[in-house]
Amino acid sequence: MSPSRKILVGVAWPYANGEQHIGHIAGAYLPPDIFSRYQRMIGNEVLMVSGSDTHGTPVSVRAEAEGSSPAVVVERFHAGFVESYQKLGLTFDLFTHTDTQNHWDVTQRMFRQHRDHGYIYADTQQQLYDPEAKRFLPDRYVEGRCPFCDSPEARGDQCDSCGRTYEAIELKQPRSRITGNTQLEVRQTEHFFLDLGKLQPPLRDWLQQGKKHWRPNVIRFSRTQVEQEVLRGRPITRDLEWGITIPLDGYADKRIYVWYDAVIGYFSATIEWAALNNTPDKWREWWDPSVNADARAYYFIGKDNIPFHAMMWPAMLIGYGGLHLPYDVPANEYLNMYGRKFSKSRGHVIGIHGALERYQADSWRYALTAIAPEGNDVDFTWDGFVERVNNELVANWGNLVNRVLGFANSRFKGLVPEPGPLDDADRAILAEIEAGFQTVGDLYGAVKLKLALNEARRLSQQANLYFHDKAPWATLKTDPQLAATTIYVALQVIDWLKLLWAPILPHTSQQLHELLGYEGQLFGRQYTETVEDERGSHLVLRYDHSGASGVWQPTTLAPKQALRKPRPLFVKLDEDVPEKELQAQAEAG
Ligand code: MF3
Ligand code: ZN
Repeated sequence: MSPSRKILVGVAWPYANGEQHIGHIAGAYLPPDIFSRYQRMIGNEVLMVSGSDTHGTPVSVRAEAEGSSPAVVVERFHAGFVESYQKLGLTFDLFTHTDTQNHWDVTQRMFRQHRDHGYIYADTQQQLYDPEAKRFLPDRYVEGRCPFCDSPEARGDQCDSCGRTYEAIELKQPRSRITGNTQLEVRQTEHFFLDLGKLQPPLRDWLQQGKKHWRPNVIRFSRTQVEQEVLRGRPITRDLEWGITIPLDGYADKRIYVWYDAVIGYFSATIEWAALNNTPDKWREWWDPSVNADARAYYFIGKDNIPFHAMMWPAMLIGYGGLHLPYDVPANEYLNMYGRKFSKSRGHVIGIHGALERYQADSWRYALTAIAPEGNDVDFTWDGFVERVNNELVANWGNLVNRVLGFANSRFKGLVPEPGPLDDADRAILAEIEAGFQTVGDLYGAVKLKLALNEARRLSQQANLYFHDKAPWATLKTDPQLAATTIYVALQVIDWLKLLWAPILPHTSQQLHELLGYEGQLFGRQYTETVEDERGSHLVLRYDHSGASGVWQPTTLAPKQALRKPRPLFVKLDEDVPEKELQAQAEAG
């Protein structure tokens, strides 16, 4: 095996202002977990980090609408993220949030360093001001028409239609979200700017070098802007009360812009992780090229986050110096539902908590990977969900496992039989599944998760055909040794397929591991913890990989190994699930 590589897996930090739905999960949360589990199985050292994005207007707007405080809103949704990620089996080495002392310190340190390096300057700026509310209207406090594509529902910081980012003052026909006022004033205010103009040449060079493995939409979007436009200084502070304070005197009524601090979370979370493990310098092995030149950083995000991860964050890293830039940004497109975007306010949504209460985590993991929006927007329907689970997952993989284990149990006393000589068909199926460690593995490694699933499914189907053709139920009567060989080969095959499926189906692969008579855990252990610091206490989700025994390798199944009493891995869904779900949604909406 090649030596272990350090892989940083950054996952988009969810705003702590609402429950996530299955579109978020399919887009940016499940893919990094599948990728990380695979990387750990091949022996790489993964650090998968994220946390709740607690600052800025997304959270403060929500708090004002509820008549509560940002901190209360954050705590509620952060706890919800942690709970659903644990249930779904998202193995974050650390899922924290941005209102921690560590994150404040790291952010302020980066701000000072950018300023010392000449990449941050102060300037006055025109800002929209709502005289009725007597407040400036940063970011999401204002809405209007997009300055780029003219979409009528553009937010103050970014347009959902074309994905472009801009300043609120550039909006056409702006209106205040606090009062609905359209008679807004323009006032002068002083802010700090990140000098993207100065950072443009190195950013352009970096985007031009060795990006062949990047998804076409990601590289196209980034290059177009960095090569064809003159980047201007971008304000990284706001007239707000909620957020990280500016580490300079005289700016007490301003805060650091949420996007500037959020992307720094990837860095600060690894420092927090190292400190929690009492290895305070270990984060350097993932970040510092002078400590480890081979480390790679992957950022899993939805397409609306591309400008911040393929331009802004790399520019910030260049300006800071001495840290690895992104190796890949495998951004996904959107998952829609019945041809329309998910929308909580319109009741057109499947919240993750309910989703996990009603259906198995692995069924979701399978169904959402089968339709992963890797190259284009895709559509979720309940019919499609039932079809994937029943006709693919249960009929193909689940049934193969049931039949082989059931047969071994009833006819071979629950022991792995001793095989006789192998014939061509036996050797062929073993060779074909064994080759899956290469083919499926390469696809996981290239973040082509939908193709990895398709290949694992094809191999499972081949195994079904093998079992059917061999008909051990018939040969048992005429040639018991032949039947024993078939069952041995079939058990060996599902033992390998278990590993090929494990990144996508970790829970049921573990169950199968036990049914096959093994002890031990394929993966490590997830747990939560409450951490105290100067800013208060915060809940974190963690992962301990030390007990994991799942290795990406076709090991030999031992004859006579005692199997456990089989039970089905998957729940088959009732055919009326779509009708019931749509009914419930109509009643709730
Ligand atoms: N909170 C942002 C969103 O939900 C994502 C932030 S990703 C980060 O769209 F890296 F910047 F944190
Ligand atoms: Zn637009």
